[in-house]
Amino acid sequence: MEFVVRNLKASFLILLFVILPVKSFANDADDLGLCPQLREKTPRAPEEFLKKVNPLEKNQKNLKKGKLLYMVRAKTLQCKHCHGVNGDGRGEMASDSFPAPRNFTCAETMKAIPDGQLFWTIENGLPHTSMPSYSNLKDKQVWQIILYIREFAK
Ligand code: HEC
Repeated sequence: MEFVVRNLKASFLILLFVILPVKSFANDADDLGLCPQLREKTPRAPEEFLKKVNPLEKNQKNLKKGKLLYMVRAKTLQCKHCHGVNGDGRGEMASDSFPAPRNFTCAETMKAIPDGQLFWTIENGLPHTSMPSYSNLKDKQVWQIILYIREFAK
């Protein structure tokens, strides 16, 4: 009897501390790639960042470098794993990331986000979400990625 009680207690604790938290940090398929995608809880960049404008020319060279970073070079985890190879927010790690990764193909959501907000996000990551920081990238590389991800909504 004591054995059963102890096991019940253990199962309850596993449910409470293991299964429920994992469940609440996973997205259902229908949370992914929404458009428009609400950004109500997304932290806002400081004012001095919001004023920044992409200084790079949108030419083939910069777009190619941006794509290379997005798909292959960005460390430690490439953007495609969460934001998807098509930028639709449905990468293979998207359902385990929190909240749903931004859907770059959604023009309605993307056109409302200033360059400087994108820059700050990529450089610093977003606290309390699974969006990592890429402080190892040079400013120029971040702007190249931004040129590239803005193409998904066109
Ligand atoms: C481990 C998963 C993951 C990876 C890898 C990842 N992201 Fe994200 N990203 C997220 C999540 C989750 C959000 C949504 C956060 C939110 O809604 O607050 C997000 C949001 C964003 C946003 C939106 C910011 C805003 O203000 O709306 C941008 C831009 C972005 N990511 C760019 C990138 C780029 C560029 C890379 C690669 C260099 C990258 N992300 C890699 C998970 C990821």
